[in-house]
Amino acid sequence: MSVLPSSLNNGNCDTAIRGSFLHFIADPDRQGDACEYLEDGLMILKQGRVQMLADAADWIDSLPDGCALYDYSGRLVMPGFIDTHCHYPQTEMIASFGLQLLDWLQQYTFPTELKFADRAYADKIAEFFCQQMLANGTTTSAVFASVHPQSVDAIFQQAERRDLCLIAGKVMMDRNAPPELRDSAESGYRDSSELIRRWHLQGRGYYAVTPRFAPCSSPQQLEVCGQLLAENPDLYLQSHVAENRDEVAWVAQLFPDNRSYLDVYDTYGLLGPRSIYGHCIHLDEPDRERMAESGAAIAFCPTSNLFLGSGLFDLDEALARNIRVGLATDVGAGTSFSLLQTMAEAYKVCQLAGQSLTPLKAFYLATLGGAQALYLDHRIGNFTVGKEADFVVLDLAPTELMQCRMENATTLEERLFALMMLGDDRCIQATHVMGRRQYSRSTA
Ligand code: GUN
Ligand code: ZN
Repeated sequence: MSVLPSSLNNGNCDTAIRGSFLHFIADPDRQGDACEYLEDGLMILKQGRVQMLADAADWIDSLPDGCALYDYSGRLVMPGFIDTHCHYPQTEMIASFGLQLLDWLQQYTFPTELKFADRAYADKIAEFFCQQMLANGTTTSAVFASVHPQSVDAIFQQAERRDLCLIAGKVMMDRNAPPELRDSAESGYRDSSELIRRWHLQGRGYYAVTPRFAPCSSPQQLEVCGQLLAENPDLYLQSHVAENRDEVAWVAQLFPDNRSYLDVYDTYGLLGPRSIYGHCIHLDEPDRERMAESGAAIAFCPTSNLFLGSGLFDLDEALARNIRVGLATDVGAGTSFSLLQTMAEAYKVCQLAGQSLTPLKAFYLATLGGAQALYLDHRIGNFTVGKEADFVVLDLAPTELMQCRMENATTLEERLFALMMLGDDRCIQATHVMGRRQYSRSTA
């Protein structure tokens, strides 16, 4: 709970937000009172950080002169959504027909990513990508760029302009890709080092060493990735693992001395806190144990896993082992920028496995759970005092169908469930980053 100041003045308040508030203090599966809900709440900010969250009735008349008030009465305000894995260069090829992972990469992905050698093109798509994030209520993303260093500059610059929290990196791949898309162990090291200097810990930016996946990196390049991590404190590492059965078999051929696909990354020192692995569908028991003890995170990508026919991620198993799990769109294998849609598909994946993803758990994973997966929960993920005020303003009934459904929902959980199953970007009324409104549906 927030500590309430005895009074409000210009020294502790420059912005106030009124609305219904929902945020998580803990994992709802582990704690009974994990979420805080205020029907008519007031959140007070100072320089983009949360100062206080309390009942509006007690404080609305005490706002100091000059304090900006955003009145979202009747709307639901939640922490900004967190996307733990996606690819901005794939924005334009989202929803490309008919193939599974390895053919999809060859036929659609590599030709598209070739275009990002052109800085102007990268700028254009990076701008559109950031606009889509905001239009979907997403305020933090872990993003793959392309192999071209300039594609990384493009996405960090666009994110910086909007104050978005961004983890991003240059894809490293020195084999099994078209020659124009390959770097080398040496150039990958050099370019990544330069980008780390330029972007890591700059504003809200974090650099992620980004080997695409083991089949596209030589052992020398994977070694270089480990070297970069060892040389630079607090870096992220993002990659893919155990997404598709043919991919897993290919890795077994390429790395015959390793016990498993995950073990390849482990061997090169790429498994630890701030390592984010997309998919993790076809892991075995020792792999899962390593994920848990290493502190690495899984990015659960349900729309992508269904779209590419990759398989069903076992969420309950991962959570039972205390593995950090975040939700991820995996655009452009994923079919939506919306974390609401991603929650809906996650729910269906769980249903097919006989599991039940509750609405509270789904919204927790998209907010505080995602922040914990990314080791960013000291800064974002909920509205506790001192946190960076990234939030989304949700309209629960932007369509006639949702209106009809909401009229028949009697509890908060029922409304949240209908929101995640039926909702999408039409539900995003506004998105604020560090307190500032960066997107408004009415003026978009
Ligand atoms: N594995 C290696 N590269 C990719 C990619 O771009 N998307 C997905 N979904 N899986 C990958
Ligand atoms: Zn991916």
